Amino acid sequence: MYKGLLRRILFHLNPESAHHFTTSLFHDLLRIPGMAALVRSIFRVRNKKLEREVFGLKFENPVGLAAGFDKDGTLFRDFRHLGFGFIEVGTVTPLAQGGNPQPRMFRLPEDKALINRMGFNNRGVKHMAKQLKNRPKAFIIGGNIGKNKVTPNEEAVKDYEICFRELYELVDYFTVNVSSPNTTDLRALQDKEPLKALLAHLLNLNVELGSPKPILLKIAPDLNESQLQDIVDIAQELKLSGIIATNTTIDRSNLESNQNVINQAGGLSGKPVRDRSTEVIRFLHAQLKGEIPIIGVGGIHDEASALEKLKAGASLIQIYTGLIYEGPALVKRINKAILKEA
Ligand SMILES: Cc1cc2nc3c(=O)[nH]c(=O)nc-3n(C[C@H](O)[C@H](O)[C@H](O)COP(=O)(O)O)c2cc1C
Repeated sequence: MYKGLLRRILFHLNPESAHHFTTSLFHDLLRIPGMAALVRSIFRVRNKKLEREVFGLKFENPVGLAAGFDKDGTLFRDFRHLGFGFIEVGTVTPLAQGGNPQPRMFRLPEDKALINRMGFNNRGVKHMAKQLKNRPKAFIIGGNIGKNKVTPNEEAVKDYEICFRELYELVDYFTVNVSSPNTTDLRALQDKEPLKALLAHLLNLNVELGSPKPILLKIAPDLNESQLQDIVDIAQELKLSGIIATNTTIDRSNLESNQNVINQAGGLSGKPVRDRSTEVIRFLHAQLKGEIPIIGVGGIHDEASALEKLKAGASLIQIYTGLIYEGPALVKRINKAILKEA
C-alpha cells in the first residue's frame, strides 16, 4: 500500500514537509482507540530467535530506527509500534538550534537516496529530556549527542558532556556523533587525539555518575583504512561499548539522479552508501575480532541488504532512507528474513 498510493502522494511534497505530514498523521491515527494495538499486530514480529543481547541490553529484535528521524524524542512513542527493536533519538545538542536554511533535504529517486544538510536542527537537550521522562522502559532508546554549531571544536567536549549529563538517567545507551558532514569541522573530531580526549572524558564521567551506560561511536563511511585503524585502536584501548557504521557520505560517485540534486551539499544516504558501509563493517569486525559490537547502517532497503550487514559482522542494524522509499513494512520483512536464517 505504501509504495502504491501513499508514497506517490508524499513524493509530491518536499521531503521535509512529507516527514512532518506523515509523522503527524500517524500520531493522530494512533489516537483512535485500538489503533496502536492494530498497528502492532500488523508490523511487529515477536519471536525468541529475534531477541539479541548486545552491550548488556536486551533487544526484542535487531532492527532499529537510525538517528535523525526522531531528532527531538517526540516520535518514538508512536514509531515503536511499527516493530522496531530500538530507536535512536537525536542528534541533540545542548541548545536548541534551527539548522541550515531550507530546502535542506533532497530526494534522488533514481538512486533511491537522499541528500541532507539539516545541520542538527533540534529543540535542545532540555526539551528532549522532557520527552523522555516516564518513557516506556521496556523499549530500548539510544541518545545520539552532538555539539552546537556555534561551539568551536576546542570546546566541543563541554557540549557532549552537557547532553550526556542531561540524558544520563533517560536513555539506555549513548551515541557520540562526530560524523555528520553538516556541522562545519565536526568530522575533524574523528581524528585520533581529539577523539580520544572526547571519549575518555565521557567514559570517566560515565563511571563518576554511577550506573555506566553503553557508549557508542558513530563514524563516517568516508574514513580511509588508516583512519579506520585509528578508530579500532581507540575503541580497543578505551573499551568502547560499540561502533555505529556508518553515517551519510560526501562521496557522489556512480549516481544517476538529476545533476542539480547530486550537486547539493550535504550527506548522501540510501542505496549508494550500502556497499561502502558494509565494507567498513567488515573491516571493523575483522580488526575487532568480534570483541566490540557493531551497529550496521547505510543503504538497507530490503531483506538482502539487511542480512548482508549482519553477515559482515553487525550485531544490530538501523534504517532511515529505506523507510522513506520502502515504507514501514520493511521492518517486518527484515525481521522475517532474519528469522528464516536463524
Ligand atoms: C534526513 C536525515 C537526517 C539525519 N540526521 C542524523 C543525525 O541527526 N544524526 C546522525 O547520527 N545521523 C543522522 N542521519 C544519518 C542516518 O542515521 C544514517 O546513518 C544514514 O542515513 C545511513 O543510513 P540509511 O542509508 O538507512 O539512511 C540522518 C540521515 C538523514 C537521511
